[in-house]
Amino acid sequence: MSGSSKGKVVVTGASAGIGAVYADRLAKRGYDLVLVARNEERLKELAARITAETGRKVEVVKADLTSKADTARVEAVLRNDPDVTGLVNNAGMGVQGTILEADVEKLDTMIQLNVTAPTRLASAAAAGFASRGNGTIINIASVLALAPELFNGVYSGTKAYVLNLTKSMQRELADKGVRVQAVLPGATRTEIWERAGIDVEEFPAEMVMGVDEMVDAALSGLDQGEPITVPPLPDMKDWDAYEGARLALQPNLSRQHAAERYRSKQAA
Ligand SMILES: NC(=O)c1ccc[n+]([C@@H]2O[C@H](COP(=O)([O-])OP(=O)(O)OC[C@H]3O[C@@H](n4cnc5c(N)ncnc54)[C@H](OP(=O)(O)O)[C@@H]3O)[C@@H](O)[C@H]2O)c1
Repeated sequence: MSGSSKGKVVVTGASAGIGAVYADRLAKRGYDLVLVARNEERLKELAARITAETGRKVEVVKADLTSKADTARVEAVLRNDPDVTGLVNNAGMGVQGTILEADVEKLDTMIQLNVTAPTRLASAAAAGFASRGNGTIINIASVLALAPELFNGVYSGTKAYVLNLTKSMQRELADKGVRVQAVLPGATRTEIWERAGIDVEEFPAEMVMGVDEMVDAALSGLDQGEPITVPPLPDMKDWDAYEGARLALQPNLSRQHAAERYRSKQAA
């Protein structure tokens, strides 16, 4: 029943939501798994179900990715286990409130989870996969990377970071056999909203995607070779136009002299 494994994928934030669906889909595609989150009981339940349904081997790692020591244990797996060929860099959280309202300690924890941990894990995966000449890293960003107006600035900032990091990694790792995809989900029906004290059911239904549909679309984007996948975006030409406008700035972003408008005005 189990057949030979296609490799092993580390999925962070696998105990719920997007990560749990990735785990299910990747096992059905023939991958063994390493599931990472804090809630060990939920991870073990998911692992048992996946193994029963697919015959795949599923390891469970209880880790708080805001802890450097716990994150280091996951980094070691990515660097050193020769069977690991994939990372779904997914664990994340939101914090409600503007920068004036939100508890800065919660914002700090979010930055640890949404920025520091995925950076450390991406670094370990890049090193391990490049040395083995093979691997795929999926970084879960958000459409808020493109639309800070829609939510508070610190969460959006963490996701813009993930998008920028992914683009840089794509350039740096292209010739080393390592593929990197950024996934930018729109609002997706998971626990993340409730955990942040927000009722996602108050959003217009047409703005919220089901989690199965979101992950299946993201994996379809991966299969189609997309470097950036935006599941809700109807026409990728709109993304290409956005990227085109951004790239058109490049020749003028670093110059010997300030722009004329700053030089011609007298200081007040
Ligand atoms: N849902 C959306 O609308 C949406 C939209 C765009 C992007 N995203 C992104 O998608 C990713 C997954 O979110 P989701 O919606 O699936 O959220 P979710 O349902 O709340 O699941 C979050 C996962 O991360 C884990 N996690 C939380 N804190 C952790 C910590 N300190 N250490 C280790 N694991 C931790 C949780 O497990 P434990 O509690 O067991 O640790 C859980 O498995 C996040 O990066 C999020 O920013 C979500």
